[in-house]
Amino acid sequence: MTDKAQDKLIIEGVSKTFTGKERQVVALAEASFSVKPSEFVTILGPSGCGKSTILKIVAGLEAPTSGRVLLDGREITEPGRDRGMVFQTYTLFPWLTVQENIEFGLDVAGKTKQERKEVSEHYIEKIGLRGFESFFPRDLSGGMKQRVAIARALANDPEVLLMDEPFGALDAQTRTVMQELLLDVWDESHKTILFVTHDVDEAVFIGDTIYVMTARPGQIKARIDVGLPDQRTFDLKLSEEFMQIKRQVMGLIREEAWKAANTNT
Ligand SMILES: Nc1ncnc2c1ncn2[C@@H]1O[C@H](COP(=O)(O)OP(=O)(O)O)[C@@H](O)[C@H]1O
Ligand SMILES: [Mg+2]
Repeated sequence: MTDKAQDKLIIEGVSKTFTGKERQVVALAEASFSVKPSEFVTILGPSGCGKSTILKIVAGLEAPTSGRVLLDGREITEPGRDRGMVFQTYTLFPWLTVQENIEFGLDVAGKTKQERKEVSEHYIEKIGLRGFESFFPRDLSGGMKQRVAIARALANDPEVLLMDEPFGALDAQTRTVMQELLLDVWDESHKTILFVTHDVDEAVFIGDTIYVMTARPGQIKARIDVGLPDQRTFDLKLSEEFMQIKRQVMGLIREEAWKAANTNT
């Protein structure tokens, strides 16, 4: 656990202050943690604690005010193909079909039509959208759109997948299906995943490791090694071991939610 050379990602004392006209917002205050190759990390914390900011810094879309993020030992300074992102709101290109959306990054990277088709067919199968290849985003349900967004990110074969509340806008049933689908995809590809959520059940169900953040300014409050079996099906959510972890995490979150409520009101 302390062998830094083996870490895929190192978030090292990252602080971020947003400076507006009226006031400054300290979003992150020396947040530090690391992620192993193929680890599935979930980040949990109250609204406004800096979760999205961390992902944006790892994505290279925002620069930290101080501290740094290392990917395979190299400092991140800009976006790159080694990192793929999936956001909560649907970011598909409305004028492209399902297949064209999935192939978009491959097209940009100069892959041939045949190469693109092989990859997109694989993921269309994997995410259960066979028969929908030529549909446009407007004709898909929310869950289907997010499947396409995940497939599009994976098609580029990134080393790290950054997911910012990707199932946050979905209903509870669809959300459960999507969690199992993502675990299935992860089982095959073993990407390193950084997954932000404010849903405790979701964090415990899909993560290997949970980092709980403090209320703003965000720091890492606790690390929880989930240690549940790799085979995760819905009945696991009803098990005693699941409930135990959930209780522990909810206790940590509750403290922070109270702090946030007391400073914001
Ligand atoms: N571009 C920005 N300019 C000013 N303030 C921002 C900006 N982005 C985020 N913030 C502020 O930083 C804090 C953390 O935001 P964010 O990372 O989006 O939180 P979370 O994703 O945990 O809800 C919030 O108070 C938010 O209002
Ligand atoms: Mg957010």
